[in-house]
Amino acid sequence: MVRVCFVCLGNICRSPTAEGVMKALVARASLEHAIAIESAGTAGYHEGEPSDARSRKHAKRRGYALDGTARQFRVPDFGRFEHVLAMDGRNAAQLVAMARSDAERAKVRLLRAFDPESPPDADVPDPYYGGDAGFEEVLDLCERACAGLLAHLRETHRL
Ligand code: 4NP
Repeated sequence: MVRVCFVCLGNICRSPTAEGVMKALVARASLEHAIAIESAGTAGYHEGEPSDARSRKHAKRRGYALDGTARQFRVPDFGRFEHVLAMDGRNAAQLVAMARSDAERAKVRLLRAFDPESPPDADVPDPYYGGDAGFEEVLDLCERACAGLLAHLRETHRL
């Protein structure tokens, strides 16, 4: 089993969206037995909460169900996941600072690195304090990057 964790700040908007999009892509490819997907936040202030209602509303319109509960990414999680995909550079830096070894640091990548159309080091912008367009943009970016991520996983893990 290849284990993937998407990580943003609060684990209520961006990383649950990436999780929902990736789960749908993995299901469509019939790879649920081979790829496990979770999400978490570098901050714990929304721990135990459902995903943001705005993220759920926009995701549902595209057929994605965001039904997880927010939780904080903790150091031992590096032992559970092969791929730790940060939604932006700030969260990537936070994760790299938490990692205990070069092997753990190497697990941390920016999600948009898997979108060939994205510029280098591009973030998935935080939609929390903005309007509807921001939530739609998160979905667009996650759909593109997750398609690239799935192709990468299939190639590197021979799935
Ligand atoms: P997320 O968005 O990191 O995509 O889940 C945010 C959620 C909550 C806050 C900031 C960003 N907050 O400041 O509470």
